[in-house]
Amino acid sequence: MPEKIIILDFGSQYTQLIARRVRELNVYCEIHPFNKVPELSPEVKGLILSGSPCSVRDEDHPNPDISQYQNQVPVLGVCYGAQLLAHENGGEVLPSTIREYGRALLSEVHATNRLMKEITIGSQVWMSHGDTIKHVPENFEVIASTESVAVAAYKVQGQETYGIQFHPEVTHSSEGKTILRNFVVHICECSQDWTPDQFIETTVTELQDLIGDDKVVLGLSGGVDSSVAAMLIHQAIGKNLYCIFVDNGLLRKNEFESVLESYKHMGLNVKGVDAKDRFYTALAGISDPELKRKAIGRVFIEVFDDESHQITDVKWLAQGTIYPDVIESVSVKGPSATIKSHHNVGGLPDFMKLKIVEPLKALFKDEVRLVGKTLHIDENIIGRHPFPGPGLAIRILGDITPQKVSILQQVDDIFIQGLRNNGLYNQVWQAGAILLPVQSVGVMGDERTYENVVALRAVSSVDGMTADWVHLPYEFLANISNEIINKVKGVNRVVYDISSKPPATIEWE
Ligand code: XMP
Repeated sequence: MPEKIIILDFGSQYTQLIARRVRELNVYCEIHPFNKVPELSPEVKGLILSGSPCSVRDEDHPNPDISQYQNQVPVLGVCYGAQLLAHENGGEVLPSTIREYGRALLSEVHATNRLMKEITIGSQVWMSHGDTIKHVPENFEVIASTESVAVAAYKVQGQETYGIQFHPEVTHSSEGKTILRNFVVHICECSQDWTPDQFIETTVTELQDLIGDDKVVLGLSGGVDSSVAAMLIHQAIGKNLYCIFVDNGLLRKNEFESVLESYKHMGLNVKGVDAKDRFYTALAGISDPELKRKAIGRVFIEVFDDESHQITDVKWLAQGTIYPDVIESVSVKGPSATIKSHHNVGGLPDFMKLKIVEPLKALFKDEVRLVGKTLHIDENIIGRHPFPGPGLAIRILGDITPQKVSILQQVDDIFIQGLRNNGLYNQVWQAGAILLPVQSVGVMGDERTYENVVALRAVSSVDGMTADWVHLPYEFLANISNEIINKVKGVNRVVYDISSKPPATIEWE
């Protein structure tokens, strides 16, 4: 087991960022809800208490028993975490009398303190609290202040326990990374050896121990997560991993064939299943986007269930679940189960009653990409834009027919290949084409036409939660529009979507 830092989550919007920053230091860490404090084990090198929307002055404020950690491993309280430690030890926490949100500058720093090593006076820090520590207990030493916050940071004398009232994890705290490094590397003495190579080595060994000689089935989607999960399990158990890649007839042009080829090239034991007709039949006449999604989900389960029955004695279902799917910030008002669980109950398809293995469930998306690169997975798979599970079905507004799919595939292919050929593909987070249920008049030669309108969409984003349209060069858009109208029968007008999310969304349905 790798060394790790435990982060107790009190519901702050920034808890995941603490984890990101710690992992950027090549130190493994786990987020746990405050009401489920994990047992202290030898791999644990330190504890971080997150911020919270709660106040320590509330009667029922979150206050877990962390005594097993104190004096055993270093502890760092951030914002609420710092206020809680001060409050519990006899300090005074009061509502702030002045605004303590946003940027502030450190006016005093105890440079000799290990947490504050290399932190400069004047360094910008990010505050976000309604309460403030007015008085620290006697055995607490103040190690940093701002003009308006006397106790910006403290250390408990004789213990490796620290508190900071600002947020070192946000990029607006200009030297926040250094503070976290000081804590994790110098105070907790983590060895910073959690690298993709190390992750692969330990995960492969763990998978071998867990799975032994059993058979595992996995559904590949062509996306990054399922592909990386498959390669890891493949390294561990080889041909006992049975992959299923379903052609739902809603993928990009030639994607099924090319991705299947890549998978085979990677040595995976993969079966391609042509289920186009089953999906088209289920989708016939359906225009409502949510009904389309439901129909696609249902048919996928049916196809996957049929296919997994062909494999005898399969014991495990592998999934490409990643960390953001597993953690949800705790509900501080009513902490409930925060980990999505898989219930092996009756009424489910047989494959869902299998034991679940999820080798990526501790990784963030960019960490999955790094592992994928280290495993030498094709750039064609690792670097591809996100693509929705229901595929082109939610980019054909209105009902789906194989003819409409074919038109949209041709348009999409011209656009995506154009982005690639012009060095624009990697500057765009996601791109695609949408077939509108609108016909418009046009003229070709001497004849009037009455054909389809397509919209092109290209967005920049970090996580898909917010997005902006990409200012693609006019020259490029002009060429793509010409090529589409000249080559794709049935399309006589191309428009470019210039809406941001919010208020629009990335997809049109
Ligand atoms: P929106 O349209 O909500 O999309 O801005 C955000 C991201 O989610 C993808 N998306 C989906 N992915 N099933 C998926 O697997 C869906 O039903 C679905 N709807 C949207 C979308 O492509 C974008 O990356």
